[in-house]
Amino acid sequence: MKGIILAGGSGTRLHPITVAVSKQLLPVNDKPMIYYPLSVLMLAGIRDILIISTERDLPQFERLFGDGSGLGLNLSYAVQRQPNGLPEAFLIGADHIGTDSVALVLGDNIFHGPRFSDVLAGSIRDLDGCVLFGYPVHDPERYGVGETDATGRLVSIEEKPARPRSNRAITGLYFYDNDVVDIAKNLHPSARGELEISDVNQHYLERGKAKLVDLGRGFAWLDTGTPDSLLLAGQYVQTLEHRQGVRIACVEEVALRMGFIDPDACYALGAFQAKSGYGQYVMAIARELGAREPRTP
Ligand code: G1P
Repeated sequence: MKGIILAGGSGTRLHPITVAVSKQLLPVNDKPMIYYPLSVLMLAGIRDILIISTERDLPQFERLFGDGSGLGLNLSYAVQRQPNGLPEAFLIGADHIGTDSVALVLGDNIFHGPRFSDVLAGSIRDLDGCVLFGYPVHDPERYGVGETDATGRLVSIEEKPARPRSNRAITGLYFYDNDVVDIAKNLHPSARGELEISDVNQHYLERGKAKLVDLGRGFAWLDTGTPDSLLLAGQYVQTLEHRQGVRIACVEEVALRMGFIDPDACYALGAFQAKSGYGQYVMAIARELGAREPRTP
């Protein structure tokens, strides 16, 4: 399975914070926002990942991650010139996807919950069409909304409906089979003038090929769309990190635990940023999992 992170858009709801800086590079506590969706793809075992952003912002993502080989990844980059909607990711990324299946994650979506890698692995194993992830919210009109019947089967998906039929938002993480490229090619823009991901999902639904996985209340899917919600997301991460002494979405740790890199390589990634608590954490994890102390000259 290939991965795509869509990190475009102009972040207008966060102006003036995002006038000169990409939203997906803003800090969420101790790391850039994009670390969170990147770690989700990595936890799903995906290593071939395309990062799509605007012409202005793409160079900064490249500066941050390079070719990804340090994390045992194969990263590539592509520009989305206009905000034409999420499904354009499958047109821009058609060559990257090739004949494979694909996971799309939005660069501003933060997920945190128990045994998430098992949930992801199970969804990929059973993929037949598409897998969507639902989450209860108090303001569903801001999202794609899924309605289910009494048996929990998905029966409709609407994009930002004025009168939502349920409180179940469809989150910004999507798994698709290879048909998604053709589906995206044949989409028409909505009244908003954009291609809508909910139309892609509706297409799968009509063919009986859309599966919904409910993330449920014990899970965190955090909003980062406004200054308040961005701060709250950072505080959520800070609270857990302080309490447990772990770091959420530490991509170096994920790379090590997933077996993408070895402990010595992980230690070196930490040593590179050793003046920050984040870097020291990476070094400590690497040591705990077998890194040898580099000999001082
Ligand atoms: C997009 C999708 C929406 C989804 C949301 C998740 O909306 O169109 O269906 O629920 O992402 O973050 P946007 O945030 O781009 O308005």
